[in-house]
Amino acid sequence: MAKTIAEYDTNVLIEGETGTGKSLLAKYISPRRDKPFVKINCSAIPEGLLEAELFGYAKGAFTGAVKDELGRVEIADGGTILLDEIGDMPLPLQAKILHLVQDKEFERLGDTKTRKANVRIIATTNKNLKELVKKGQFREDLYID
Ligand SMILES: Nc1ncnc2c1ncn2[C@@H]1O[C@H](COP(=O)(O)OP(=O)(O)O)[C@@H](O)[C@H]1O
Ligand SMILES: [Mg+2]
Repeated sequence: MAKTIAEYDTNVLIEGETGTGKSLLAKYISPRRDKPFVKINCSAIPEGLLEAELFGYAKGAFTGAVKDELGRVEIADGGTILLDEIGDMPLPLQAKILHLVQDKEFERLGDTKTRKANVRIIATTNKNLKELVKKGQFREDLYID
């Protein structure tokens, strides 16, 4: 199945318990081999920082933002971004990921300009997203997409 999926350019969700090889598989199925492969672990980065890490920021967006900075989505442009442990992503950021999935658009934190990014999204989770949807902790529209 992994071999087949690797031929397609669709977004992919890999579910499974910790240690079952999700991150390894994500790398394996990335078909854009000569393109960037950028990883971000949504459970390891504090909520406040995650948006800046993902989407970048404009100078002055927050204290310490002394210059414009690219996020990992922009760095991954043309390639793949791995959203590791997407079940731990806060709801407001899930909305921004949905915007990226549906329209291939995003904004840097504190910036008004809408930018384009062509990224294949591979997401992993050790959580039961269906349960999280029921509990209102994961967007149903993002789960379907
Ligand atoms: N099929 C496999 N063959 C060999 N090693 C594997 C395999 N699947 C996973 N591993 C190893 O097991 C460990 C956990 O894999 P990882 O991809 O990090 O799991 P997960 O992301 O699901 O927690 C890693 O050291 C990985 O290299
Ligand atoms: Mg992992």
